[in-house]
Amino acid sequence: MCGIVGYNGKNKAVDILLNGLSKLEYRGYDSAGIAIVDKDIEIIKSKGKIADLKEKIGDKKLEGTIGIGHTRWATHGEPSEANAHPHTSNDGSVTLVHNGIIENYQELILKLKRHDYTLYSETDTEVVANLIDYYYKKYKMGPIDAINRTMVRVRGSYALAVIFKDYPDEIWVARKDSPLIIGKGTDGMYLASDVPAILEYTRNVYYIDNLEAACLKKDDVIFYDLNGDEIEKELKTIEWDIASSEKEGYEHFMIKEIHEQPDVLKKAISAYVKDNTIDFTESLLTSDVLKGIDSVYIVACGSSYHVGICIQYIIEDLAKIPTRVEVASEFRYKKPILSKNELVIIISQSGETADSLAALREAKELGSKTLAIVNVVGSSIAREADYVLYTYAGPEIAVATTKAFSTQLLVLYLFSIELAKTKKQINEETYIELLNELKEVPDKIKYILDNEVKRIQKITSEFSHVHDAFYIGRGLDYAISLEGSLKLKEVSYIHSEAYAAGELKHGTISLIEDNTLVVGVISQKEIYEKTISNLVEVKSRGGYILTVSPESIPVDNVSNYKITIPETNKYFYPSLIVIPLQLISYYISVSKGLDVDKPRNLAKSVTVE
Ligand code: F6R
Repeated sequence: MCGIVGYNGKNKAVDILLNGLSKLEYRGYDSAGIAIVDKDIEIIKSKGKIADLKEKIGDKKLEGTIGIGHTRWATHGEPSEANAHPHTSNDGSVTLVHNGIIENYQELILKLKRHDYTLYSETDTEVVANLIDYYYKKYKMGPIDAINRTMVRVRGSYALAVIFKDYPDEIWVARKDSPLIIGKGTDGMYLASDVPAILEYTRNVYYIDNLEAACLKKDDVIFYDLNGDEIEKELKTIEWDIASSEKEGYEHFMIKEIHEQPDVLKKAISAYVKDNTIDFTESLLTSDVLKGIDSVYIVACGSSYHVGICIQYIIEDLAKIPTRVEVASEFRYKKPILSKNELVIIISQSGETADSLAALREAKELGSKTLAIVNVVGSSIAREADYVLYTYAGPEIAVATTKAFSTQLLVLYLFSIELAKTKKQINEETYIELLNELKEVPDKIKYILDNEVKRIQKITSEFSHVHDAFYIGRGLDYAISLEGSLKLKEVSYIHSEAYAAGELKHGTISLIEDNTLVVGVISQKEIYEKTISNLVEVKSRGGYILTVSPESIPVDNVSNYKITIPETNKYFYPSLIVIPLQLISYYISVSKGLDVDKPRNLAKSVTVE
């Protein structure tokens, strides 16, 4: 979704803004723009990519050291120069960029029209620029008063960066439910929607909370609450490595991030396993808290939801605790019935997904304890949940998730094992056995990456023409099929469905015809014969069968093509299976010549409903 950046310091702003925007490209966008304070406020915008914006800037002399920038992911109005940000108020007193959605913008348009304002774009953002201007001129009490009155009047979500013509040395920001961080560097102050945009300049950041505002000067920032009173904030340090935001010789971020999985998983293990014991105490998730849990409700979106489905099987089987899973957009409106001792787990790599954040708030409102599984430190979900387990995947730039998915799964394996032990469902011996096996998972992933990539690359280039694919499996194999199927859809635009293998014959098997690609995921020994029977049914109707399974499962008679993964404990197969499934999607996308890191219509952080 949209990304915003800003800089107020000693250096030329234009380069910093363009560099920052290029680091936010992964979020998805269709137009971009900047505003630089020189003698006047110079605004340059363009439809398309940042390269188009750069071309438009050409050799214009932009010497200003204050500016704001934006990548727009169209919501209100088509991608066009008129709708691109920055937007200004009618007389140019207020210039701003915005990430989020103003829900009551229609009503505000009527109000502004009654006061003789004209709107020149189709956006909800231009409404905010004029509303700030309206309050600024009506009450004549300065920027913070105008911004706070606007925050009270608008409904929706926003991260705003505002320049007032009367205050050309300052950038003002305000936030509600859209991500925004403020960086303090040695040569100026920065603002951005996400860490990669400023990581090159500073690791010291402030997190601004909902309904708070701030004024960025050249070397300092002042924070305000909704009453206009100054508030103190603590400066935090970002631990992420700059190299994680660069391609480092890989052709795409997606393949780089696939290859990073062994390392980030080891990092996550070492964060939580000390001397062969799982330790969540830093997250305050003590054994007393775990003892009090009678049931679990997992809520998430997209790939994070698929992690939830995998973990449901494991918590129920291992810890014997009833566990439900729901997509966040459904959970938030269905008035869920939660028991007193229910733990609601919100899984979100970005920590900003609008539906997941709303679900978290709903769960808290209903009195449940909440646990967030989050990658982005300081994100809204991490800050609002009662307990947080960070996943330590580092920045994930490719829109389609790979390493963040894998670390979510791993952290929740640890959670399930610890819960099972606390609930006395497993003894010390099983606990150690599971931990030892889990520690082997990163090296087994590395083994797949070292040995299977070339074969997968070769076979998948043959599938770039297929129109439909099915992923089938049972139990955990079905759960991970959901992720494989989503990955294929996202990056290759091939229609794909994941089916519980036994369910296929209840209708959908009618779609199998000659050479339909069917990926059979078969790792669960107790039920593998059943899945094989389902694959035989499909093969006899012309399906082309690609299997993913460990060596111990005999698939030769059914598969047209076999991908073999190492053996592991039955619970941990999803972590290994997902690797070839990610690679299949990646190589099909690349062989179709698609933009695998930024697939069409997708956004990295979905901050609208
Ligand atoms: C798929 C993908 C999305 C996200 C979903 C939730 O590759 O990345 O399906 O998983 O949008 O995002 P988070 O985890 O940030 O809440």
